Amino acid sequence: MSNYLIHGGRVVDPANNIDEIADVLIERGKIVAVGSDLSDSAPDGVERIDATGKVVAPGLVDMHVHLREPGRADEETVESGLRAAVRGGFTSVACMPNTDPVCDSASVVEYILQRVEEVGFGNAFPIASITHGLEGEKLSEMGELVGAGAVAFSDDGKCVVNGQLMRRALEYTKTWDKAIISHAEDGFLAHGGQMHEGYWSTVLGLKGIPAAAEEVVVARDIILAELTGGRLHIAHLSTAGSLELVKLAKERGIRVTCEVTPHHLILTDEKVRDYDTNFKVNPPLRPQEHLEALRQGLKDGVIDAIASDHAPHARHEKEMEFDYAPFGLIGLETTLALILTEIVEEGVISLPEAIALMSINPARILGIDRGTLSVGAVADVIILDTNAQHDVEPLRFESKSNNTPYAGWSLKGMVGDVFCAGKPVIRNSIFVV
Ligand code: DOR
Ligand code: ZN
Repeated sequence: MSNYLIHGGRVVDPANNIDEIADVLIERGKIVAVGSDLSDSAPDGVERIDATGKVVAPGLVDMHVHLREPGRADEETVESGLRAAVRGGFTSVACMPNTDPVCDSASVVEYILQRVEEVGFGNAFPIASITHGLEGEKLSEMGELVGAGAVAFSDDGKCVVNGQLMRRALEYTKTWDKAIISHAEDGFLAHGGQMHEGYWSTVLGLKGIPAAAEEVVVARDIILAELTGGRLHIAHLSTAGSLELVKLAKERGIRVTCEVTPHHLILTDEKVRDYDTNFKVNPPLRPQEHLEALRQGLKDGVIDAIASDHAPHARHEKEMEFDYAPFGLIGLETTLALILTEIVEEGVISLPEAIALMSINPARILGIDRGTLSVGAVADVIILDTNAQHDVEPLRFESKSNNTPYAGWSLKGMVGDVFCAGKPVIRNSIFVV
């Protein structure tokens, strides 16, 4: 295994409060030093990589991704998903259990981990279902799933309707200090809605999902987290009211964290006006005031993570009438550049803050030892050109799907080099595996 000295770059490692011009030394797959001019301490034969003018950061962590394996390998596989991830700077993803079969047994967890092993680069950490078969009827075998390697639990895509089950899930997972990731949506209030309930749903004649459908479940789950002392994480938080609830809960010392997606920070419900199903997502795109509240939540530090909710869907399924198309859009290959262009460049948060939201913060929520350049850490490292302008070209995605709402957008920020556990996976923007 080769050794690498990445020198002269701006090293941004929020876990260690580092933001300075420095060198990063990788030996035998691990970070062995970060500091100024490490040439003398580098071993003989080390490969030198010039990162002058670039940002050197920990490999990013996307804690909310749908790989469609097992079940829908036509839409995404572990391999295509990991290729899309590293292309976008994410060396680790956590994958949601709404596969076919559902990730509710040790054998499915082991299958995914086996596939990751075979791919040979990147990490996919399985999230197991809270309830058996995502049916909301009885809890999955949590101990067995943790034993097999599940990093958290979620029924994402579906809400756990039964409050008693949610209470038990929050209680049991305390045993292993795992997070319960809530897809907060009251199905009775959402009531078959296709987009956010408001001005545009009325104009377009589409059934609406009110903000309250999310907020009532966020409130319930926070109350249950307080009751149990369990660890709650709100997936794809999308409304001003949900954010307010999380803020209050944090102030009261309740163990709750939350993530937002790039699309809920950048796209409003007005985008649905042409009935383009690439804008159909759950939770739905919201009006401007919600976007502004979420941006403020980033500034205030109430939001813990940014996650893509990468949800691949087959073209023929998305090319349906709006009412019949599935919810979801892909994001692994656009998230970083969107956040750099629309959030960091716009002055909402700094680059180190953005990187923290996509590396060490989600890693801590999941309890995985990733997302940092600490000495001794696994050498998952990216080299990023924050100025590189490029157009979003879905047909060139590594993902097997191309249901993105950003086709043709011009974004700033490209990942030129990616190392996974010290192994070069992308060099100078080209896959070398
Ligand atoms: O838009 C979505 N798509 N939201 C979800 O919660 C599930 C996801 C999917 O699996 O396609
Ligand atoms: Zn999801």
